[in-house]
Amino acid sequence: MTGRLRPPRADLETVAPYEAREPRVGVNLAANENPHNLPREVLSTIVERLPEFEFNRYPDPMATALRESIADANGLEPGNVLVGNGGDELIFDVMLAWGGPGRTLLNLPPTFAMYDIDAKVTATRVVDVPRRGSDFAVDEKAVLERLGQGDVDMVVISHPNNPTGNLDPETFLIDVLKATDALVLVDEAYFEFSRHTMRPHMARHRNLVILRTFSKAFSLAGMRVGYLLAHEDVITELTKVRQPYSVDRFSQWVAGLVFRDRVMFEAPIREIIRNRDAVLGGLAKLPGVTAFPSEANFVLFRVAQAGAVWRDLLHNYDILVRDLSRAPGLEDCLRVSIGSEGENRRFLAAMKELVSKRDSASSEAVEAAADEGHDDEPLD
Ligand SMILES: Cc1ncc(COP(=O)(O)O)c(C=O)c1O
Repeated sequence: MTGRLRPPRADLETVAPYEAREPRVGVNLAANENPHNLPREVLSTIVERLPEFEFNRYPDPMATALRESIADANGLEPGNVLVGNGGDELIFDVMLAWGGPGRTLLNLPPTFAMYDIDAKVTATRVVDVPRRGSDFAVDEKAVLERLGQGDVDMVVISHPNNPTGNLDPETFLIDVLKATDALVLVDEAYFEFSRHTMRPHMARHRNLVILRTFSKAFSLAGMRVGYLLAHEDVITELTKVRQPYSVDRFSQWVAGLVFRDRVMFEAPIREIIRNRDAVLGGLAKLPGVTAFPSEANFVLFRVAQAGAVWRDLLHNYDILVRDLSRAPGLEDCLRVSIGSEGENRRFLAAMKELVSKRDSASSEAVEAAADEGHDDEPLD
């Protein structure tokens, strides 16, 4: 290709392009997806009504029907709800409206990587208050002191925290809400597994914004639907920056069916919670492995030469987990999503074999493998 091209914004140099490469694997436990597809009843309804679906019409920009159901279920008005193209888009929208040049985000790493990426893309300054190394608890005093400086425009708290799995104390979140007028985004992407929400505090705190998604508990990661619960003034500001037609008509319709029948997801959610505890228990029994308690549908664990373990799982067992070992604060950490019972058993059996194999292998061979490196990025 020839011709001239003016360079893009100089500050994008520090942003890596997100090219998610999902290797084809037998068991994919890398993206915190639901191991089950939609319930048969929902799939049958979709198939039955598909011929009448108006693909030729633009979607309702505000997803009114879905918005009303979500508001109703949460004891709120439709004006308190915003539906987006996955939680990811809504985080970006919040960053567009409350971040930007000259504005500041307070972040609590290690946490969901998109917060930092979206801040960079929107030219928002990021102030990090790192979590404690041993158990990933927040440094409450440091956060409150930093907020006391009065220059923070927005705080984001993953609740429970991805990828560490822990839930910060409700008392801490209330202290944050009281300490600042900054917008406080509480990301409850895994709320259906943690069973804890900050929703009751919305009436008292205008600065509280709650994010939820259909991607995890509701088996809709392939469709891209998330929603925010917030004060109507916040929703109004966000509708200024959002893409009007970002949630397509088909996604609105399917998410509406899923939400109406959400009681069907209760049993699978309970099963995932049970299986999570079994995976945690299984990992904790392995010598040299530290597994961290989780309130979500994944478990973070630490194991020496995690990069080599990641590769061994992929190449010798056809199992993909998330390698976080190069993220600051997550040295030697991998994250495994909770799959079906069979997948979890296969993962635990592989880990058991791998750990005992490593015990007997010469440490030199393992170290040589660890030096190879790979490009898996810790994004979701
Ligand atoms: C903490 C957290 N927030 C938000 C998201 C975004 O989810 P989605 O865009 O699929 O709704 C994820 C996805 O993994 C997540 O882990």
